[in-house]
Amino acid sequence: MKILSFIIVCLFAISCTNQYQNIENSIEDYQIIPIPATLKVKKGRFVLNSNTKISYGEGLNGEAEYLAELLSPSIGARLIVDSHESPTGDIRLELDSSISNKEGYTLRVEPNSVVILGSSPAGIFYGIQSLRQLLPAEIENSRTEISELTIPSVEINDEPRYAYRGMHLDVGRHFFPVESVKKYLDLIAMHKMNTFHWHLTEDQGWRIEIKKYPRLTEVGAFRSGTAIGLAGTRNAPYTYDDVEYGGFYTQEEIKEVVSYAAARHITVIPEIELPGHSSAALAAYPEFGNTGGPYEVAKRWGIFKETFAPTEETFAFLEDVLTEVMDLFPSEYIHIGGDEVLKEEWEESSYAQEVIRRENLKNEDELQSYFIRRIEKFLNGHGRTIIGWDEILEGGIAPNATIMSWRGIEGGIAAAKQQHTVIMTPGTHCYFDYYQVPEEEQENEPLTGSTEFTTVEKVYSYEPTPSELNEEEAKYIIGAQGNVWTEYMPTWDIVEYRVLPRMTALSEVVWSSEKNKDWEGFHKRLQHLAKRYDELDYNYAKHSIIQTQ
Ligand code: ACM
Repeated sequence: MKILSFIIVCLFAISCTNQYQNIENSIEDYQIIPIPATLKVKKGRFVLNSNTKISYGEGLNGEAEYLAELLSPSIGARLIVDSHESPTGDIRLELDSSISNKEGYTLRVEPNSVVILGSSPAGIFYGIQSLRQLLPAEIENSRTEISELTIPSVEINDEPRYAYRGMHLDVGRHFFPVESVKKYLDLIAMHKMNTFHWHLTEDQGWRIEIKKYPRLTEVGAFRSGTAIGLAGTRNAPYTYDDVEYGGFYTQEEIKEVVSYAAARHITVIPEIELPGHSSAALAAYPEFGNTGGPYEVAKRWGIFKETFAPTEETFAFLEDVLTEVMDLFPSEYIHIGGDEVLKEEWEESSYAQEVIRRENLKNEDELQSYFIRRIEKFLNGHGRTIIGWDEILEGGIAPNATIMSWRGIEGGIAAAKQQHTVIMTPGTHCYFDYYQVPEEEQENEPLTGSTEFTTVEKVYSYEPTPSELNEEEAKYIIGAQGNVWTEYMPTWDIVEYRVLPRMTALSEVVWSSEKNKDWEGFHKRLQHLAKRYDELDYNYAKHSIIQTQ
């Protein structure tokens, strides 16, 4: 009888043994972008099935539910999520204060368990993103049930190189609904990026509801037509379609986006452009301009002479707007634009000239600095920090401003040397509105304004910290961002096409350590990630994707 029991126990043990326990994995099984700091290949695979239980430590409910939602469709059953002080499930998420980087994580997969450790929920979230890429791309497609789902054993210890890893989106030139913005946030999250810079106001459209000033969206969110083709660029004639175009986000929709982003550990930074790029606001409230108007919401692209007037009434208006903006966006940073301000209206305005005299300013550049400093003082008073485009350096930088360096890297270098925080977004590498192919091939591509081009490989080659900075100065470079200006992106499909896979290359630039960067390796891993884009229904440029049939 004892022998029989022994045999039964042995048979039971054998039947419980994971058949993938001793399988050898190869590096091909680990195709993660951005490449982790360290990755140790191990023997055996974890089997996921409908009995797999996810458990989590305190404060990690959101991450556990996110993971269950990611995995459940392909398993064909809702995975059980369970909270324990000491997690005991097959997949365990736990905070670990010994991990020094607040976004860092450890992912340990063994045949019988998956453990993700992070010093914060964000770290856990990034561990989940790596786990996701160890699973077949088909898990992304909620219509696909997979009969056997295994994860290769591994030990990953990982952390980001830069604290700021951003993607920008201009919704002024073309407007995109909340559903598209959420799809963008999903992409940002998958790439372990953590900031969405939402460019909400432009000459061609004001896109955020402000309760105190309803005309901003009643009037400012709509234009009476849109330039066709190149219109004014490269000497093309101006023609317009005469079709009313517009749209805006209600405050409820803004809250929905901010909350969707927060669940993915993404901070949303709103941009309210001042004192230029303000034609749409002035069309709604001409009294805040220099000439009294009339103004119109712009129908063409480019730079406009219209600016806000430096009057007390205008400052009061902007402070009211920013007060509502601060109520909607909890981010430390508020972007106040500051780029491409033509000064001719201020040169011709007796009021602006009086302010220059009154404030002892040298010229209109210094008037722009005065304007930005006043707005900065207001926002600092509410515990926020401003970001401005690099033009705000010109008449003297506002005391606490962070600079976004877009006209090359010089602005970033100058700001870092003055001990100001810098985010690098140089047009040469980080402007994803450019073509992805050389001029002779551009006629087969969706139209864009400039013939300049930036390939995926060029984005990948980008080094955000300029060699001109010494070690101390280099600390002011907190990261980089891809910018997406949408003059020539009338549809969401084209936005995705311009962004992918260039943002994928940028994600490795901002996350991975310099010593792990390797174009050949990235290019190989990209082929795998492209399958994931397919399953997720993203439209992407195929120039760097190897066609297999
Ligand atoms: C910009 O591209 N005007 C910041």
